[in-house]
Amino acid sequence: MADLLHTAAELRARARAGRRAVVMTMGALHEGHATLVRTAREAAGTDGEVVVTVFVNPLQFGAGEDLDRYPRTLEADIKTASQAGADVVFAPSVEEVYPGGEPQVRVTAGPMGSVLEGATRPGHFDGVLTVVAKLLHLTAPDVALFGQKDAQQLAVIRRMARDLNFDVEIVGVPTVREDDGLARSSRNRYLSPGERRTALA
Ligand code: PAF
Repeated sequence: MADLLHTAAELRARARAGRRAVVMTMGALHEGHATLVRTAREAAGTDGEVVVTVFVNPLQFGAGEDLDRYPRTLEADIKTASQAGADVVFAPSVEEVYPGGEPQVRVTAGPMGSVLEGATRPGHFDGVLTVVAKLLHLTAPDVALFGQKDAQQLAVIRRMARDLNFDVEIVGVPTVREDDGLARSSRNRYLSPGERRTALA
């Protein structure tokens, strides 16, 4: 079973072994996440280590979005992450990530964050980049892996790493789909049978 850590201090105190690969998640892990973790395992190698972060980031949820009902399934997540090859699950509290409350200073996605999905979710990508930047600092990985499913997210993360000189390799991992082609997503569980059919379009 992967080690479960909750604080930055625990993570810092952990002796580092070889190349570190990180998979960031908001939990509710499914096969798409498991594929990310397996790819991270390959990237880290047998001598390296794989860290999976589980953190539901309030900063990236808009008013009226599903922050309160977002699925929280830590026990099952630890099992899924471990079976896929994770060495560590880092599941910090909101206070651990944002000790001063809502951060005054944030990373902004700039013009890339206000088109496509960002057009209807103002501030979403700023919230994503702020927590990704923080988690990159806390976990200090050699490589961080993100799903291609969230294409705009992957693009703004790549751009942040380049523009702000993050010393990390960002790797995009192909989307895992259901048999009928729908991309695996923790939020698919919200879909009614009708919406589930429409989603295939
Ligand atoms: O893709 C996600 O699950 C989240 O947006 C991420 C990258 C973990 C940041 O909270």
